[in-house]
Amino acid sequence: MRQAVPREWVAEYDERLSAAGHEGSAMPRLASLRDYYSGRAVLVTGGASFIGSHLVELLVAAGAVVRVADDLSSGRLDHLDAVRTSIAFDRGDLRDPTFARASVAGSRVVFHLAAAHGGRGYIDTHPVECLNNISLDHAVFSAAAQAGVQKVVFASSACVYPTQLQASDQDRQLLRETDAGFEGGETSPDGEYGWAKLTGELQLRAFHRQHGMSGVACRIFTSYGERENETHAVIALIAKAVARLDPFPIWGNGLQTRNFTYVHDTAVGLALAGAYLNGFTTLNVGSPRHHTILELADEIFEHVGWRPQRIGHELDRPVGVRSRAADVTRSEAQLGWSPIVSLRDGVERTVQWYAKRATARAGDLTRALMER
Ligand SMILES: NC(=O)c1ccc[n+]([C@@H]2O[C@H](COP(=O)([O-])OP(=O)(O)OC[C@H]3O[C@@H](n4cnc5c(N)ncnc54)[C@H](O)[C@@H]3O)[C@@H](O)[C@H]2O)c1
Repeated sequence: MRQAVPREWVAEYDERLSAAGHEGSAMPRLASLRDYYSGRAVLVTGGASFIGSHLVELLVAAGAVVRVADDLSSGRLDHLDAVRTSIAFDRGDLRDPTFARASVAGSRVVFHLAAAHGGRGYIDTHPVECLNNISLDHAVFSAAAQAGVQKVVFASSACVYPTQLQASDQDRQLLRETDAGFEGGETSPDGEYGWAKLTGELQLRAFHRQHGMSGVACRIFTSYGERENETHAVIALIAKAVARLDPFPIWGNGLQTRNFTYVHDTAVGLALAGAYLNGFTTLNVGSPRHHTILELADEIFEHVGWRPQRIGHELDRPVGVRSRAADVTRSEAQLGWSPIVSLRDGVERTVQWYAKRATARAGDLTRALMER
């Protein structure tokens, strides 16, 4: 049965967009995604992932004929429970060119999300796996170009931006697409993971130049929400709050900022980019609002209904850059898109989801925060 999933999600966004004053502007209505995706064959690599599974639900709701290819190394099949009977699923390693070609065959649009990826605790301790993403990207883009795919939407990252632009938590700078590497900015991405993503963008641009395939590199910024794992800050902090850890451990001094972007907003940005952009382009998919980790923790305590006596700062833990948020001028101009779900609403939904999970156990936390 197709399109059994979240029509109400689409309705919610349309309602919110109207309330936010987008009506009558260039904002493509979410419901109009159906005009583009209805009946269209779409592959989502890494579709069993946190972000991928939300995107798959949206694409199915928009009427796309969706195939997912995933090796389930960090993704989970049960992430796709709501759409399992509406999609095709291939399990395998996309670095294998034969598997990549078989998965891509017949698709018009490919959303490429498969990657070795995790939160700061993972990417800082798995540089080799992160660099392996370069060969994974190459296999997927090659297969797509050979198969005559019209467009690849690549899940790039804010980690492509120069770290020196994000060095102070006093700054409230917004990162622009032109700040990074081959777009005229400096080339000093955030660790091996950032270098691999920037190289992925460069590969996509090369496939566009040489084979004409459209490529949209969406630079995703700190997405959070249901189905994310504990290596990411939001879920890690929720897990610790649910486990009532007191003193409450926070990595670093907690004054570092991120622009937490609720996953429905992320998925909508990706789907709109897939529908409306052509040629080669890069695009920020993230919120322009800075929140400190301490502000995030406060919001979490509020929704968990518990507050520790004391915060314990773990200063030897990896915290990444000091400050990060997205300039959304390009995404607003080209798609009429910017995130609309507040931190309060997004955290509330995520806490409700997490609290229902049986796996929230204090004893598992040390491993869960570092491994996917
Ligand atoms: N979560 C974020 O805030 C964020 C930020 C920036 C970029 N991204 C990017 O968005 C994408 C999705 O992120 P996520 O947070 O949902 O991560 P995730 O770890 O849940 O997703 C990665 C997915 O790729 C699959 N995968 C990994 N290697 C594979 C391989 N060789 N062959 C087939 N499948 C493979 C995994 O099983 C998983 O389903 C990733 O490319 C990630 O780098 C995410």
